[in-house]
Amino acid sequence: MSLYQATASAPVNIACIKYWGKRDTKLILPTNSSLSVTLDQDHLRSTTTSRADPSFTKDRLWLNGKEDEIKDGGRLATCIAEMKRMRKELEDKSPNEPKLSSYNVHICSHNNFPTAAGLASSASGFAALVKSLATLYALPASPSELSLIARQGSGSACRSLMGGFVAWEQGTSPNGSDSLAIQVAPREHWEDIHALICVVSDDKKGTSSTSGMQRTVETSPLIQHRIRNVVPQRMRDISEAIQKKDFDTFARITMQDSNQFHAVCLDTDPPIFYMNDVSRTIIALVVEYNRVSVEAGGKLKAAYTFDAGPNAVIYAPKENIREIVEMIVNYFPQADPFKDPFGLFGTTGVQGGVVS
Ligand code: ADP
Ligand code: DP6
Ligand code: CO
Repeated sequence: MSLYQATASAPVNIACIKYWGKRDTKLILPTNSSLSVTLDQDHLRSTTTSRADPSFTKDRLWLNGKEDEIKDGGRLATCIAEMKRMRKELEDKSPNEPKLSSYNVHICSHNNFPTAAGLASSASGFAALVKSLATLYALPASPSELSLIARQGSGSACRSLMGGFVAWEQGTSPNGSDSLAIQVAPREHWEDIHALICVVSDDKKGTSSTSGMQRTVETSPLIQHRIRNVVPQRMRDISEAIQKKDFDTFARITMQDSNQFHAVCLDTDPPIFYMNDVSRTIIALVVEYNRVSVEAGGKLKAAYTFDAGPNAVIYAPKENIREIVEMIVNYFPQADPFKDPFGLFGTTGVQGGVVS
């Protein structure tokens, strides 16, 4: 008897231009394009194993050892159904292939970092799920094609199918066929940029990204200004900055966009607060660090960004990383990654992450 099983991993990605808002909640079509950096596989990642077997009575999923319900019509069900549909197409063309599309699947996934804490677990999670099913089903699909399916699990997941600098083009088609991820530049294009993950809290966030952004779209006047007048220009400018390896522009736009994302959260009714006092202290430290450099005639040396949670990600040229870690550890001595290099320090600390 054959065993039909495949394992795949996907890293998280952290957006510089944030996705926040859906124009179609079922297909997960965004109200604006976004752009992110995919982190290296060695750091924050999801690892997912999928198995198809004729003896399985239903599709099931375990996340970090605990079973999660696969709700009918929900995002997990949609992704699994889409992958089975692609497998069926392949079986119809190649009648000798085993009929895996008719078997149920058992899926088991682990995150090596805090889940639902604003460190993009839904991104790596759905990307790994789609990758593992694509491997199990031996699908010839490209990363962009798979991004269309991962997007329907969690919007940000479409960007984790590719490494380096990745844009999610919002698209115009009502069926979502052009709302997909494209690689703006591979990791090798700009190896000097590194990411530092500062785990301020590993608690599950109070407001999930899904419900938070929906409330913002329904109640915030500021989000309309952001969508129409701000993001399109920023997408062009940051893409150009990446092509030119212009860290100063990249950093300025990244910090501005993080600030505006948190401003639209505050503009939501009732307001959403994702950052806390530690997050704001980290902002102040980075601002001061950059000010000293600029006043001495230099350039910006680091850029902070915060997703839907209090945890900071700092992008910086490699040569500045040690100095930045020392600066943060000076304020938060409990978070010393050099005592535990490249591991999460406990679960609260600073992780030196190399982006990929
Ligand atoms: P985050 O900031 O971590 O992305 P979200 O609120 O966007 O938080 O999404 C968290 C949800 O994503 C989890 O509750 C779970 O449903 C889903 N998720 C996280 N990790 C995985 C995974 N490895 N496989 C499948 N789904 C996952
Ligand atoms: C702040 O992709 O988690 O991280 O599509 O509802 O699953 P759903 O939301 P999700 O939202 C991510 C929001 C963000 C910004 C970003 O990653 O672009
Ligand atoms: Co998420």
